Amino acid sequence: MENFVFYNPVKIIFGKGEIARVAKEIPVNSKVMVLYGRGSIKKNFVYDAVKDALKHHDWLEFGGIEPNPKYETLMRAVDIIQKENVDFLLAAGGGSVIDGTKFVAAASKYEGEDSWDMLAKAEKVKAALPLGVVLTIPATGSEMNSTAVISRNSTKEKLPLSHPRLFPQFSVLDPEVVYSLPEKQVQNGIVDAYVHVLEQYLTYPVQAEVQDRWAEGVLKALMDTGPKILQDQKNYNNAANLMWEATMALNGILRCGVPEDWSTHMIGHEITALHGIDHAETLAMVLPGVMQEMREEKSEKLLQYAGRVMNVRDDIPHDKRIDQVIEKTEHFFKSMGMQIRLSDHGINMSTIDEIEKRFRQRPGFDALGEHENMNPSRVRNILESRL
Ligand code: NZQ
Ligand code: ZN
Repeated sequence: MENFVFYNPVKIIFGKGEIARVAKEIPVNSKVMVLYGRGSIKKNFVYDAVKDALKHHDWLEFGGIEPNPKYETLMRAVDIIQKENVDFLLAAGGGSVIDGTKFVAAASKYEGEDSWDMLAKAEKVKAALPLGVVLTIPATGSEMNSTAVISRNSTKEKLPLSHPRLFPQFSVLDPEVVYSLPEKQVQNGIVDAYVHVLEQYLTYPVQAEVQDRWAEGVLKALMDTGPKILQDQKNYNNAANLMWEATMALNGILRCGVPEDWSTHMIGHEITALHGIDHAETLAMVLPGVMQEMREEKSEKLLQYAGRVMNVRDDIPHDKRIDQVIEKTEHFFKSMGMQIRLSDHGINMSTIDEIEKRFRQRPGFDALGEHENMNPSRVRNILESRL
């Protein structure tokens, strides 16, 4: 097992009816901004529950954060925060709203020229406003991690930002929010969480028994919950399980002591930046290509995944078992409503050229993967194999 530091200060408040607890988590003399998306919280019960919880607080709201949150929109929130002396942020939404709020928290305290440099130039986050979360979609794990992924319209970029100051202080996970989700968003959540686990698992073995078994457990749970929740979205236990699975997939626990490979996410972010395709769809297209391209380097973990998670027979040659586990993974993604080929989305060679070019220019993007050998030419191979 490799050395690690594990730090996660997020208080999780889990269960139906728990949004009311927000009141106790935010100091009553705070000036609060509630940030949300394009209005789904006003169609279900979330907005009313937040409003009720904050009845003794001084608060204002900022709506309109779009999926794949945009720097341009978020900077409008920063202006208001500075004018109104807001000192606590409450995100009520999915990954986009939570990530957007994390960025706003840091950008409001940023003292340099352009807060985008925290993403583009990997500048350290020196200060951030405190934030809390009311989660409305199980998917990204943003409710229990310190990462934000932000897009910029003017440059068509989508970049991650990570810093311990961006951990929410608390996150309320009320599974009943799942009932109002469009089916597509449920499918996206399952696939995003599944790929998060695989990117912390499909590398090479380091005898990290607990981590491996946890990862396999979360993968199996997602494969079990996925079809059930698509059959019966208003079943509380299905919703509760999915919510906790997605949080566990990316709250830092699974990465302790193991190598990671985030190349699927990095390639997927470029596809979203260029074409606006849902995050999970991009992962479902790219991951089977990464498994194929890196089948030698990843062979031991691919075989472990094949046997322990995907029930691939172990009396057939290794190569065939790896072929089968890639096929079974694709099959699972399809059964969760994903289109798994770039051409399904009308993507062609010009996008592949552009992504290869971007990977060549961007610092650190020429050496991704657990062995830092995922270079731009291999990224091209992966994308070409997924056309
Ligand atoms: O705009 P609103 O009204 O909020 O509607 C949203 C949006 O249209 C809707 N929705 C959310 N909760 C709902 C609901 N509709 C009905 N009922 C509810 N309860 O669903 C749509 C998608 O929401 P979004 O927040 O974009 O989805 P998701 O949670 O999948 O977040 C995706 C974003 O997170 C980033 C992605 O790149 C993408 O930008 N990620 C963040 C990560 C992190 N912070 O650790 C890791 C991930 O890998 C990912 O990159
Ligand atoms: Zn993701």
